[in-house]
Amino acid sequence: MDKLIVHGQREIGGEVLISGAKNAALPILISTILTAEKVELFNIPILQDISTTKKLLHVLGVRVESFDNMATIQANKLTQYDAPYELVKTMRASILVLGPLLARYGQARVSLPGGCAIGSRPVDIHIKGFEAMGAKINISHGYIDATSDHLPNKKLQGTTIFMDQVTVTGTENLMMAATLAEGVTTLENAAREPEVVDLGVCLVKMGAKINGLGTNRIVIEGVKELHGATHEIMFDRIEAGTFMVAAAMMAGEITCQGVDPTKLDAVIRKLIAAGADITVKINTVTVKGKKNLKALNVITSPYPAFPTDMQAQFMAMNCISDGVSEMTETIFENRFMHVQELMRMGAKIDIKHNTAIIRGVEKLEGANVMATDLRASASLVLAGMIAQGKTVIDRIYHLDRGYEALENKFNKLGAKIERTSA
Ligand code: EPZ
Repeated sequence: MDKLIVHGQREIGGEVLISGAKNAALPILISTILTAEKVELFNIPILQDISTTKKLLHVLGVRVESFDNMATIQANKLTQYDAPYELVKTMRASILVLGPLLARYGQARVSLPGGCAIGSRPVDIHIKGFEAMGAKINISHGYIDATSDHLPNKKLQGTTIFMDQVTVTGTENLMMAATLAEGVTTLENAAREPEVVDLGVCLVKMGAKINGLGTNRIVIEGVKELHGATHEIMFDRIEAGTFMVAAAMMAGEITCQGVDPTKLDAVIRKLIAAGADITVKINTVTVKGKKNLKALNVITSPYPAFPTDMQAQFMAMNCISDGVSEMTETIFENRFMHVQELMRMGAKIDIKHNTAIIRGVEKLEGANVMATDLRASASLVLAGMIAQGKTVIDRIYHLDRGYEALENKFNKLGAKIERTSA
């Protein structure tokens, strides 16, 4: 199992090109099921979850030709409508095949995604939405069986769906299904995340009729079929945020290239409040950090508020900032597993329900730590870079799910991070 060895206290600075967004690429790759024509995608990040998604499409009979960061995909003759447990258990986002399969073929069999380290991750809102569109759903033996064969023209029926909670993949799943439904579907309390918008923009290029992207009410008018398209995946705002926090806490200067700063507002504001200098240009953000940053309170919430996917990284920064800060995680029930690991490095953190209270310390010490989930891994890399001495991070397969060669990018900025498979 690969480990990372992070040597602390190195000067870092320079420019880094931000990769395509994992959480936009996953739904957009899967949306190709909605058309028989070729879809060309660019700026796809090279990540474990992307390979898993391509494998899943291949299992369904979709033709995937990929080269480096691009892929040409064609779902002109599927061989099955069944997303097997072996694949779904490694990537929860596989649930996203449910909507497209149901919309295009009137049937789908998808393994119930298990929970994961950060929470139970139910999909009840997805299911309720499909049932509201007339689908018959049966859940047994760990599988979701869905069909619309009993409906007029075997098609899902447009309707208004009120989602009890803001759900990113729930909004994406139902939006994809609605593109081929009969009539108009309105998604109330829809997710506003930029990745949801990027998926919607790609669907519109494929001929879908969608209004309200980026708002909490998305209206989709079903069409007969979708056609091929070309789309460039948006930048990964969480990868960008990770480098921005690195610059702030390491007192370095890093310019993130290939970004849209308007989609980084919550993180930019927090870093300015902590004392970092930020320069924003059309498609770059430069962060200049300093020592003794001000510790900041954070409450995670759906976009445009502070993203839960940045909570662990920001906590690493709060650990060595001046003062006491409170970080409240409102999205997932168990997204503090990096806390124990940070404490092994000398961080002073207490947890009360879904709030972590962090007392800033002068320094962190290198230690052996264990990655527990994707963003926790990133937080340990950041802590290791600021710590005195060496930090060995185990189980970094978590990191590889969501970051394209993170250590190479940091090493190019002056860090010293080695990967071993010892
Ligand atoms: C997406 O997960 C992202 N993953 C997550 O990123 C991200 O943390 C999350 O949205 C929140 O922004 C992808 O896009 C592939 P949710 P998702 O449905 O869609 C509850 C990362 O690190 N809920 O928005 O699974 C749920 O339990 C990953 O890149 C239900 O109760 O998250 C949670 O409390 C981690 N029932 C809340 O809603 C449902 O049917 C938000 O979850 C669906 C969700």
